[in-house]
Amino acid sequence: MSADQSLAPEAISFGGSADPYALYARLREERPVTRVTLPDGGEVWLVTRYAEARAALADPRLSKDPQRLGDQWRATVTQPTDGEDGSLVKHLLNIDPPDHTRLRRLVHKGFTPRRIEDMRRRVQEITDGLLDRMAEAVGPVDLLAEFAFPLPVTVICELLGMPLDDVDDVHRWSTALSTLVADEGGHAAVATAARQLSDYLADLVATKVREPGDDLLSALVEARDEGQRLSPEELTSMAFLLLIGGHETTVHLIGNGVLALLRHPDQLAALRADPALLPGAVEEFLRYDGSVEVATWRYAVEDLDLGGGHVPEGAPVLVSLGAAGHDPARFTDPDRLDITRPDASSHLAFGHGMHYCLGAPLARMEGQIAIGSLLSRFPALRLAGEVKDLSWRAGLLIRGVEELPVHLH
Ligand code: HEM
Repeated sequence: MSADQSLAPEAISFGGSADPYALYARLREERPVTRVTLPDGGEVWLVTRYAEARAALADPRLSKDPQRLGDQWRATVTQPTDGEDGSLVKHLLNIDPPDHTRLRRLVHKGFTPRRIEDMRRRVQEITDGLLDRMAEAVGPVDLLAEFAFPLPVTVICELLGMPLDDVDDVHRWSTALSTLVADEGGHAAVATAARQLSDYLADLVATKVREPGDDLLSALVEARDEGQRLSPEELTSMAFLLLIGGHETTVHLIGNGVLALLRHPDQLAALRADPALLPGAVEEFLRYDGSVEVATWRYAVEDLDLGGGHVPEGAPVLVSLGAAGHDPARFTDPDRLDITRPDASSHLAFGHGMHYCLGAPLARMEGQIAIGSLLSRFPALRLAGEVKDLSWRAGLLIRGVEELPVHLH
């Protein structure tokens, strides 16, 4: 047993930290699977080593079904629609087989590699349009607001067949929802955003049923597996998951990736000199400072030993993908950014096992096109201001800065 199980839970502040990796290094060393107390007082078991993280992500004894959460931990884990009608929660990240297998098969019928590949030209067009607009700016611009945010949200809205006029509302709701843990005021904001988004998506699904288009949501309405189709609730939840999953995550892949390069001029110069390094560089950005800091909630279906730590039945478990990416037992010199690292793509930034990210090919494509086009368009790109002045998003799930001010010229 490597971890000292007699240790009292440690108070952990997730999110908002410029460098969580020093804390993760200590936890990996001292308590690789351990009970921690979150800033709002909730208790969870946190997995930090690569080997244990990978195993936990695929362990059937860690359920994704919120019903498996023990009563004593109910206050810790909030779902967006707690107390509501639950119409946003019947999605892939909240279910186990056999329902997960059925839903995932159905989504695959709409979310085909062909449909993603068809988006390549559009992703490049949207990117170029945003770069053109930014090029007119005099003085510093916020790369997140002007570029990293509008690209993925436009792509996912187009993919799902949403009117582009709705993008601003969708962004506001999804930002509120992807924060996950908050105080009293935060919980109320989450509930309001969930209700508004749920109503909006239910209307959108009804529209696609009446007037199907050439989009993913219409394809999901049509999809059948052994005669079965997605129910209206499942469609609304699926649209919700694709929207949230395909949005903030990709925003901060672009933001964290560009920031990592601007902080490492040697790596930036190497990438500029050889654009063929881009796909490997994007994998390294995901490993080095991925946008999903911890994977989504899991619940122990029985008492279990994980990495030498005891996890009681019903306990909520979080797997730190960020900590796993910096495990020296898996990656040589893990705190160094190296865009030529041969094994970067074995990161866990997209998860592992049956819940492996459905949108990974799309996210990779967007990240490569966005960062590659940005660098070639603006040879003088540099940070406006100091790294120490950047503020990092609060909350458990998403890791990224609030704003990324840069000079383009
Ligand atoms: C850089 C961008 C992205 C990152 C880092 C990311 C990360 C992840 C991770 C870590 C998981 C697994 C969570 C877990 O097991 O707890 C996941 C699942 C998922 N992601 Fe992504 N994601 C990204 C982009 C996208 C995009 C663009 C889409 C959709 C268009 C998407 C849709 C999904 C879906 C539907 C799942 C659930 C799969 C299942 O449960 O079977 N993601 N993602």
